[in-house]
Amino acid sequence: MSKRVLDACCGGKMFYFDKDNPDVEFCDIREVDNLEYYPGRFLNVKPNTVSDFTNLPFEDGSFKVVVFDPPHLIHAGDKSWSRLKYGRLEEDWEDTLRDGFNECMRVLDDDGLMIFKWSEIQIPLRDILKIFQAEPLLGEKRGRNKNTHWLIFMKPASVQEVQSEKP
Ligand SMILES: C[S@@+](CC[C@H](N)C(=O)[O-])C[C@H]1O[C@@H](n2cnc3c(N)ncnc32)[C@H](O)[C@@H]1O
Repeated sequence: MSKRVLDACCGGKMFYFDKDNPDVEFCDIREVDNLEYYPGRFLNVKPNTVSDFTNLPFEDGSFKVVVFDPPHLIHAGDKSWSRLKYGRLEEDWEDTLRDGFNECMRVLDDDGLMIFKWSEIQIPLRDILKIFQAEPLLGEKRGRNKNTHWLIFMKPASVQEVQSEKP
């Protein structure tokens, strides 16, 4: 993979200055064409690759940066705008998020960075960090209620490389 960045669940690509950036591999589990998810508001989900973040179709260590912004709601009506726009977690959400985090780490290069976003609306961030069993390098809270967390995780260099650097 020659692209340096993976977005494992890109949705409507709201983060991006260039939604067709050729250096980003955009993935999502669905494709959506102009869905009116709220009166007068439309959603397009146009991934390069339709894939499940719990089973990514990429080799180990393929990307320098991985963006992971999974669904954050467990309670949302089938037809609610938030489910239509962001998706919804199912009963096995803990396994889903753990497997997704581990897959994102697997395809990340040694010393690569993962950018993780979590909206603390129904599930506290501390529960998510327990599930990931990993400590972020740094983080920032945003939003009116300061409940949107942006975190950066760094993948440790492989044990072999660290050992070979010792005198
Ligand atoms: C919070 S939204 C992402 C929003 C996105 N960052 C944006 O800027 O619009 C979560 C996305 O995860 C996708 N998703 C849910 N389960 C997934 C899975 N198992 N694998 C890949 N994508 C998944 C949903 O389709 C949804 O588009």
